[in-house]
Amino acid sequence: MKWAVLIGSLRKGSYNAALARALPGIAPAGVEIAFLPSIATLPLYDGDIEAAGFPDAVSAMGAAVKAADALVIVTPEYNYSVPGGLKNALDWLSRLADKPLKGKPVLIQSASMSTMGGARAQYHLRQVLVATDSLVMNVPEVMVAQAQNKVTDDTFTDQATLAFVGKQLAAFEGFVKKML
Ligand code: FNR
Repeated sequence: MKWAVLIGSLRKGSYNAALARALPGIAPAGVEIAFLPSIATLPLYDGDIEAAGFPDAVSAMGAAVKAADALVIVTPEYNYSVPGGLKNALDWLSRLADKPLKGKPVLIQSASMSTMGGARAQYHLRQVLVATDSLVMNVPEVMVAQAQNKVTDDTFTDQATLAFVGKQLAAFEGFVKKML
């Protein structure tokens, strides 16, 4: 089973990227994890650019999502919502003719410095993924609070969190099998 991972932060020291990098080590056996290109590779959505032809970076990201059995989104929360760069990527993907997000099983994770763990962004993200007709797993939810205390030298080191995330990934494997 192949999962594509999309990261909602561009920061080098991103806690969300650190969490994402930990996923291959805790994913169920037989799950292959591939990281999608950075959301920074995409221009800001512009209908005129679309009319002139989808940028290669958009087509490439769309093809990678289409080829994957499932998508994992790991993202920060910005001002109680989805980071603009991530929303931009989803907007581009939604415009592709082959609708890579339609019917795609999706798992959401967030990490934040607050005690809320990015919960509010997750619920906004779920709303966007209704529009794309994606199949988002409901529970268990992973919202990593006070992530600054769980990452050491760019490595996600909080073992209790990783154990819980591992359980979420195992549940997601079952969810994806049901959806395929
Ligand atoms: C934040 N941050 C933040 N955190 C949160 O829990 N809720 C929020 O609404 C916001 N809002 C917000 C807005 C903007 C513009 C920034 C830059 C940051 C803090 C955020 O959790 C923190 O910067 C994380 O470290 C971002 O994730 P990465 O980059 O470490 O993955």
